[in-house]
Amino acid sequence: MKPIEARDLEKSFGKVRAVNGVSLYVDKEEIFGLLGPNGAGKTTTIRMITGIIPPDRGSALIMGHDVLREPMKAKAHIGVVPEIAAPYVDLSAWDNLMLAGRIYHVSDRERKTRAKELLEVLGLSEAAHRKVKGFSKGMRQRLLLAMALISDPDILILDEPTSGLDVISARMVRSIILALRREGKSLLLTTHNIEEAGMLCDRIAIINKGKIIAEGSPEDLKISFEEFRNIRVVLEEDLGGIERALEGFDVLIQGRKVSIMCRQDEVDEAIRKIVKLAESSGVRIKEIQTAGPSFEDIFMKIIGK
Ligand SMILES: Nc1ncnc2c1ncn2[C@@H]1O[C@H](COP(=O)(O)OP(=O)(O)OP(=O)(O)O)[C@@H](O)[C@H]1O
Ligand SMILES: [Mg+2]
Repeated sequence: MKPIEARDLEKSFGKVRAVNGVSLYVDKEEIFGLLGPNGAGKTTTIRMITGIIPPDRGSALIMGHDVLREPMKAKAHIGVVPEIAAPYVDLSAWDNLMLAGRIYHVSDRERKTRAKELLEVLGLSEAAHRKVKGFSKGMRQRLLLAMALISDPDILILDEPTSGLDVISARMVRSIILALRREGKSLLLTTHNIEEAGMLCDRIAIINKGKIIAEGSPEDLKISFEEFRNIRVVLEEDLGGIERALEGFDVLIQGRKVSIMCRQDEVDEAIRKIVKLAESSGVRIKEIQTAGPSFEDIFMKIIGK
């Protein structure tokens, strides 16, 4: 039995088809990432999986329990950090944790032991008895994570756990995510940060316009694009007519930096064309480099299709 399994989820809001036939699963001790741009349908998918909104079609199972038909059984296994959530700002971190524990029916003693541990791990011990009102965004986000963990759930569902955090807070949250997996937990998270997905996830599904358009391990996703090379050219001055000269290639121009994505066997041709154009325009080339595609390149390539 899979910790999380979603089958053919569909959801529309008026005329907007937010999610259009999404199926996914999360294995035990796995970090599964749903990676996609703004508006791709990540949050809507998460909300259906956590039983916040009913799908128009399809179903979501947590440990084999349908979230709509057996909500208590299904939800007993999960801890959730929603995309938009806020702790009570007039309460302290400690009191928020006590409250979350009560909601999850965690016994008084366990609640206190776990709250102490979690505050420690998440670097909030010193702020434990301060009102959340004075917390930074990073502190609030870590508190939300602690609240989701108060019942020691086997499955964590995190919607954009690091979005809006500074580098240090984001790193802390990521290392906690990795530690949770090492403890044997299963995690479903969403992100639009490609590097983060590559770093954290065992498996990634790329979602765009409500559909999963690619899926695999970070390595798989790179391998499937291995035949692609990225040529990066830095010019000394602006150069016109690049798009025309390189018609048929995937070109991205950012000022004097040009990035060309092409197949391995087209590298020669692409370089020849841009060198020729630069020469005929009297523009010097400062740098040419070719490399395998980054996650960002892969993402853009897949989404562009
Ligand atoms: N409650 C709602 N009412 C109307 N439209 C909605 C609602 N929720 C989502 N949508 C629309 O559904 C689409 C998918 O939204 P969703 O929030 O799932 O995307 P997302 O991938 O989480 O994006 P983001 O990265 O910005 O969080 C968007 O076009 C959005 O405007
Ligand atoms: Mg979202």
